[in-house]
Amino acid sequence: MATETESRNDAAVEPIAEAMAESMIKVRDLTHYYGPMPAVENVNFDVKRGEILGFLGPNGAGKTTTMRILTGFMPPTRGSVTLGGYDVVEKSLEVRKRVGYLPESVPLHTEMTVTNYLKYMGTLRRMSGRRIRTRIDDVIDLCRLEDYSKTLIGKLSKGFRQRVGIAQAILHEPEVLVLDEPTIGIDPIQVVETRSLIQDLGREQTVVLSSHILPEVSMICERVLIIHEGHIVAADTPNNLAQHLRGVEQLEVEIGGPPAEVLPVLRAINGATEVTHHPRPGINAYRIKFREGHDLRDEISRTVVSHDWSLLSMQMSGMSLEEIFLRVTTAEDEPEMPD
Ligand SMILES: Nc1ncnc2c1ncn2[C@@H]1O[C@H](COP(=O)(O)OP(=O)(O)O)[C@@H](O)[C@H]1O
Ligand SMILES: [Mg+2]
Repeated sequence: MATETESRNDAAVEPIAEAMAESMIKVRDLTHYYGPMPAVENVNFDVKRGEILGFLGPNGAGKTTTMRILTGFMPPTRGSVTLGGYDVVEKSLEVRKRVGYLPESVPLHTEMTVTNYLKYMGTLRRMSGRRIRTRIDDVIDLCRLEDYSKTLIGKLSKGFRQRVGIAQAILHEPEVLVLDEPTIGIDPIQVVETRSLIQDLGREQTVVLSSHILPEVSMICERVLIIHEGHIVAADTPNNLAQHLRGVEQLEVEIGGPPAEVLPVLRAINGATEVTHHPRPGINAYRIKFREGHDLRDEISRTVVSHDWSLLSMQMSGMSLEEIFLRVTTAEDEPEMPD
């Protein structure tokens, strides 16, 4: 029996067959542990060439962990990732040539000017002096840093520092851009400009960006993965996602009774759109989705009693997409992080 997570992960990889040839990134059964609990677990998804993919999830969901693995900066505990056909662990140098990464907190050198920092990053990446010079002109132009090329990075506002971070990420003309919360903590005007910069970059490149802000992801991205507690819980276009989220509710029930009999009976309940079985040691839990407004609680308890099973618990599930979504969306109104 497929668990919720597995079936949803299948949804995330479903378009693979047609997109196989053009998948820029392939993530398979990605799992990472820092301690006893997985930070991400059995994550599967593909990123198509040229796509702008959003990674949406609350703090601690596993976004940064996934991005560090995608970019070849950290090997996963389990599973595999390829980028442009290169395994991120075995061929991390090839991967880094092809990927530009804006980490969560950019380790910018505050005592360098913008131009000197970009020169330094180009040298680290073994670009030729000539290519560095032309590319610096390009990225300064693209990231609208003209007025600040001689400014010390330490003197720049957070928003401009973030642009320098993006400038270094695209300096070597990578095919893939990975941006970890590119608009976090910057002022609203800068946010608008940064979003439009990312959209511009996305016309040429494959972009993966993370955010805990739903409207941001909807605005910029063609496809969104919602990640929650290390699992992908939804993958779709922003439009489909919003529609899907609108009318679905979810119950979690624990029923004492043989699952092979319980499951078909639950599935036969009028109004239940999806029923999945989630066995835990000693307990059989079921997740029941239903259309908004069709409260099935009454019906479920009567059905369980009529079969002589026992209803051990029943609650609106804390894992509903709606709730995750709510948590994610309300985060935009929280005070910005201090600079
Ligand atoms: N370096 C680390 N050491 C230990 N735990 C970590 C480390 N980085 C992240 N974690 C844990 O892994 C989980 C996922 O974190 P992270 O990938 O940073 O999520 P997000 O970027 O979505 O906020 C969290 O529970 C976090 O506390
Ligand atoms: Mg993070």
